[in-house]
Amino acid sequence: MTTSGGALGGKSFLASARPSSNVEQVLKNVEWPEQFPFKEEDFQRDDVSPDSLFYKAPRFVTHIDDPAIAALTKFYSRVLPPSNSPGVSILDICSSWISHYQAGYKQERIVGMGMNEEELKQNSVLTEYIVQDLNVNPKLPFEDNSFDVITNVVSVDYLTKPLDVLKEMSRILKPGGQAIMSFSDRCFWTKAISIWTSTGDTDHVLIVGSYFHYAGGFEPPQAVDISPNPGQSDPMYIVYSRKASTT
Ligand SMILES: C[S@@+](CC[C@H](N)C(=O)[O-])C[C@H]1O[C@@H](n2cnc3c(N)ncnc32)[C@H](O)[C@@H]1O
Repeated sequence: MTTSGGALGGKSFLASARPSSNVEQVLKNVEWPEQFPFKEEDFQRDDVSPDSLFYKAPRFVTHIDDPAIAALTKFYSRVLPPSNSPGVSILDICSSWISHYQAGYKQERIVGMGMNEEELKQNSVLTEYIVQDLNVNPKLPFEDNSFDVITNVVSVDYLTKPLDVLKEMSRILKPGGQAIMSFSDRCFWTKAISIWTSTGDTDHVLIVGSYFHYAGGFEPPQAVDISPNPGQSDPMYIVYSRKASTT
């Protein structure tokens, strides 16, 4: 496909770029339109009140079921730097009281960014935290090339300025550093962007893949389906990439 995003629009792009319902195949050989195919209306939400109101009270809950959490933790145990690796820094964006890394996981610096201070304070893996509404201010307050890994769990669907956030992620990752975005099929419906709530799991993989592609600075994104017991537990998908070494 070589048409511009303007000619097709977000939903048409998804329909034409989704030749397979297999999550692991869908990011292979995508012919991305020249321009980002999504429009402002795709990032609107039913609840337009400030996110600070919605997240004012802490929620000490898990947002996916235990098997899905276990699958994510297992995935992290394969791809994250070993615990206590000298000089490693990790950032968890849209973080809460839990980050799902392996039990006892430690690094010199693990920063959590989220909306609720009480939740972040309780997150024992974090060495520091920052409360910041990324939909108001998508600038990540860190130096260029400073993180080895950035994680984001079941929250990418709440970002209304995802390209700005992903560009920032690319800026602050070290060359070769990894960005790992994971999501399921559950969300706070009124706070998720409309292109997410009006589409399905395979489309979500394409949407997150497009964020990597159009933000720039990343290697082609890949998808993996780590759903633990299809049909019985929450599904779990990962779209990930590395910061290109040449930027
Ligand atoms: C469903 S929870 C997931 C929390 C955590 N990642 C986990 O796996 O349990 C969504 C998270 O997204 C964060 N979030 C939502 N909107 C945000 C925004 N506008 N800016 C920054 N973080 C946001 C909230 O703080 C909340 O912790």
